[in-house]
Amino acid sequence: MLDIARVRAETPGCAEVVHFNNAGAALQPRPVLETVRDHLDLEARIGGYEAADAAADRLAESYGSLARLVGAEADEIAITDSATRAWDMAFYGMRFRPGDRVLTTASEYGSNAIAFLHAARDRGVTVEVVADDEHGQISLDALAATLGDDVRLVAINHIPTHDGLINPVAEVGRLARAAGALYLVDACQSVGHLAIDVDEIGCDMLSATGRKFLRGPRGTGFLYVRRSALDRLAPTFLDQRSAEWTGPESYELRGDARRFECFERSPAGQLGLAAAADYAMAIGLDAIERRVTELGALLRTALAEVPGVTVRDRGARRSGIVTFTHGDRDPAEIASSLAARRINVRLSAQSYRYDEGAAPAPRVRASVHYYNTEEEISQLIGAL
Ligand SMILES: Cc1ncc(COP(=O)(O)O)c(C=O)c1O
Repeated sequence: MLDIARVRAETPGCAEVVHFNNAGAALQPRPVLETVRDHLDLEARIGGYEAADAAADRLAESYGSLARLVGAEADEIAITDSATRAWDMAFYGMRFRPGDRVLTTASEYGSNAIAFLHAARDRGVTVEVVADDEHGQISLDALAATLGDDVRLVAINHIPTHDGLINPVAEVGRLARAAGALYLVDACQSVGHLAIDVDEIGCDMLSATGRKFLRGPRGTGFLYVRRSALDRLAPTFLDQRSAEWTGPESYELRGDARRFECFERSPAGQLGLAAAADYAMAIGLDAIERRVTELGALLRTALAEVPGVTVRDRGARRSGIVTFTHGDRDPAEIASSLAARRINVRLSAQSYRYDEGAAPAPRVRASVHYYNTEEEISQLIGAL
């Protein structure tokens, strides 16, 4: 059982706001905040390099924390400054040849879709959006029917940014593996939200961010690369961290996933990211997943009873991301009038989406976390 009073007491933001923007950036718990602040203080007092030297052991251990969070080994983790950069390092590292096919899903994140188009233009790959099933998730039948020898990569999100659905990532993993395709999972919205095990998912690469459900600092993210996939990728750019300069004509790549990193980083952010992973694991990812999905379901039920409100989420299995519209009311106006009552939600508005085309209808996104309460849900409903 989660001790809600305790986790709220450890979250300074809970005293300030009703925070339903956890899919944007969650409220940080005190141990994360203190880890970051302490390291910044140390940098100010003794110097940035000297502070990193003093924290060398903890910086090294941070890979183990992130690895444990997703069921990986420490040498399969690269620390980045965002989920996008982590995903990019995997995607742009693909040794594509013209004619290679890439399969994705209709709910894919916009930045990933732009990278697909870029690769189609630059490298001659063909990107195909696999149809949804009747629940709005990627259709396993459609995927199985289209997989073939020429599919080099299956790249899908675990939980989209704008919808409550959860994609069946493990079933997709089995199909991708059987077809010999590499498999990249965008777990930006699911790490810290659901219990994740890269072996169960069967992915070769998985990208995540620090600031969302993991409750880490902004400007942090990480990439998991399975050992067996390491040499099937070519890092897009190299520096003296990702490779060693060995002679006038030679360099050697690092032997682990850190070949996807660069030298300069925020040690305070890295320590804060690891502290967030440790904090989530101490609470328990199964308990977090249960609580977040229960609160999400509760919020959907309560919203559906508000006259004029339509819950927009699809998915046979649903997450803590809840999206809705309210009659003809402008979702941006709803978000700003809730903000005036110190209730944080977010406007979800894209310029284009695979599933809805140009200018898809904007919606309000209210994303719950385990530290939210039933009373806060009532407050949101009352304010609506
Ligand atoms: C599904 C998904 N993928 C990727 C990203 C990008 O994450 P970041 O902003 O950390 O690069 C987001 C951000 O909202 C997201 O929701």
